[in-house]
Amino acid sequence: MKRIAILGSTGSIGTQALDVISRNPERFTVSALTCGRNVSLFREQIRRFKPELAVCQLQEDAEKLSWEFPGIRILFGEAGLIAAAESDCDILLNSLMGMRGLAPTYHAIMAGHDIALANKETLVAGGSVIMDAVEKKGVKMLPVDSEHSAIFQCLEGNRDKKIRKILLTASGGPFRGWSYEQLKTVTPEMALRHPNWSMGQKITIDSATMMNKGLEMIEAKWLFHVDIDDIQVLVHPQSVVHSGIEFTDSSVLTQLGVPDMRIPISVALAYPDRLEFPELALDFFGKGKELTFEEPDRKVFRCMELAVSASRQGGSYPVVMNAANEVLVQAFLDKKIGFTEIGEKIEQVMEEHDSVSDPSLEEIIAIDKETRERTRELI
Ligand SMILES: NC(=O)c1ccc[n+]([C@@H]2O[C@H](COP(=O)([O-])OP(=O)(O)OC[C@H]3O[C@@H](n4cnc5c(N)ncnc54)[C@H](OP(=O)(O)O)[C@@H]3O)[C@@H](O)[C@H]2O)c1
Repeated sequence: MKRIAILGSTGSIGTQALDVISRNPERFTVSALTCGRNVSLFREQIRRFKPELAVCQLQEDAEKLSWEFPGIRILFGEAGLIAAAESDCDILLNSLMGMRGLAPTYHAIMAGHDIALANKETLVAGGSVIMDAVEKKGVKMLPVDSEHSAIFQCLEGNRDKKIRKILLTASGGPFRGWSYEQLKTVTPEMALRHPNWSMGQKITIDSATMMNKGLEMIEAKWLFHVDIDDIQVLVHPQSVVHSGIEFTDSSVLTQLGVPDMRIPISVALAYPDRLEFPELALDFFGKGKELTFEEPDRKVFRCMELAVSASRQGGSYPVVMNAANEVLVQAFLDKKIGFTEIGEKIEQVMEEHDSVSDPSLEEIIAIDKETRERTRELI
């Protein structure tokens, strides 16, 4: 029986992970759950999965939950997230949204837990610190992002082989084929309609700007120890080929499946075993019939290029790029800036930045905070 702790259990990935767990009660038990502000859903999850520890964002919600669930340890805020990350479990699934996932991931690794990582911002902002900690503690870092799960699966048994490049697929989002002028007319309602995936709001906007692919390139660089320039992005609108690897002999391995996050979540939680999902079989004469690939338009979708540039420049640039993006995506959702201003303002913030080489966890957190303040001034 694996004990699973989930950070962000009320989100898109968190709820799908609980679905995977509830279908496999003989394999998994839930040791800790955390939410932000969706306390009504969280209450149902606590009742159903009976964790030993439950953490919410606000103290007032924690006080109410303590009355309702006297047998369960209830905590709140940042300290609560760290306590959940360090609590006794076999795997910590980090499905928090954004940079707030970094410190809990670090603490979970230092506590010796294997990590199922959905929170890509952890590696974007703190890749060096996190991968050093993974190596030091000898824990497993199991990717949940569908693309990274695909690459991870392709690499099984092939880690020591000669690999030329990583192939990272992208749906292209709802505005594939649009011009930069057309992108200026995009509203939050339009950007929140993703053609293939149902996800949280932040990642849905990141997919529409293609920043998501840039973040994933950085995530792949750290997870698979490759140079950012050895990652090729392929726009693949059907989202059936989830990514792959190309060997030096030009042989290509990819992983295919329907676009359903429960598959990569189950690969991470059950690793090295496989679970049963007969209803998710790929229909090769339906969804899998036509598989097409295009080059990404790097001029129009400049956010992806900004992420690549931040990674190439290294030091604290990825921290700054990520922090500015988080603030600007929220400002776009709040209708304070236009769609194309997300990339324009990230570029401005990056240009102003004096990079710190090899930043520590504390420096990363401080730079993230300063960048958020500076970005808010530009809105
Ligand atoms: N969704 C996908 O299909 C998908 C695919 C690949 C990778 N990912 C990655 O997985 C991560 C999560 O994505 P998601 O789509 O699941 O996001 P989401 O639906 O927005 O869920 C985010 C979770 O974080 C919690 N949270 C938000 N603010 C918080 C705070 N201040 N303190 C504590 N908890 C807080 C939310 O709680 P409340 O809802 O209770 O406020 C929710 O449980 C992201 O890094 C994303 O890039 C997602």
